[in-house]
Amino acid sequence: MNHQLVPVITIDGPSGAGKGTIAQMLALDLNWNILDSGALYRTLAYFMLIEQINSNDFDKNQEYIKENFKVKFDPGIIGEPVKVIFNDRDITKKVRTEEIARETSNLAADPRIRSFIKPCQREFMALPGLIADGRDMGTVIFNDAKHKFFLTASLEERAKRRQTQLKRQGSEVNMRVLLQELEERDKRDTEREHSPLRSADDSVTIDTSALDPNEVLEEIKRYI
Ligand code: DC
Repeated sequence: MNHQLVPVITIDGPSGAGKGTIAQMLALDLNWNILDSGALYRTLAYFMLIEQINSNDFDKNQEYIKENFKVKFDPGIIGEPVKVIFNDRDITKKVRTEEIARETSNLAADPRIRSFIKPCQREFMALPGLIADGRDMGTVIFNDAKHKFFLTASLEERAKRRQTQLKRQGSEVNMRVLLQELEERDKRDTEREHSPLRSADDSVTIDTSALDPNEVLEEIKRYI
């Protein structure tokens, strides 16, 4: 397919800024495809963990990983996370844990991993359009996207949202620990050498701290 013809909307920002919810709402509203690139990295981390492949041995195992790394997303329903389907199995709950998040943040700093994931991400471009959620969607992967948004929120608000999300999934996490983990992850994501988290020059920034998801969606729809 000629990728030039597929419209893309990118939604980047730090953890807990509301990207997942907004990307899901937009995908359902427009009936477009969705790419949760964080979940793609998480799935790779999960796969490498269960296959016991150390990141130092990534090159050696790249062919095997490529053959077996078949990921699909289903926007699911509002109020539940976007579904991650790996080799036809729903692994949503398995990859959306703090343990996998920690592993993933380290893995995502590796340039070999990022260049492996890049074409996988571009493959999600399909008509009628794509909503791409991540950290470098607008700056690197889809820098030719039609519309780019950068969502932010205060650290406290993001930690609160993360806690609610984890509670819904059945795990209790201490607020102090969450704040510390988010801060560390932000630092790693923004200071890493390869594709650090930053807003694209041509993106629209929205601070979602005091907005509910419908208000954010309305604001985005005003632009598109
Ligand atoms: O959005 P998330 O929490 O599911 O992302 C998991 C990790 O993957 C996070 O540490 C940032 C990293 N990531 C990335 O480096 N690039 C992306 N495009 C998406 C996520």
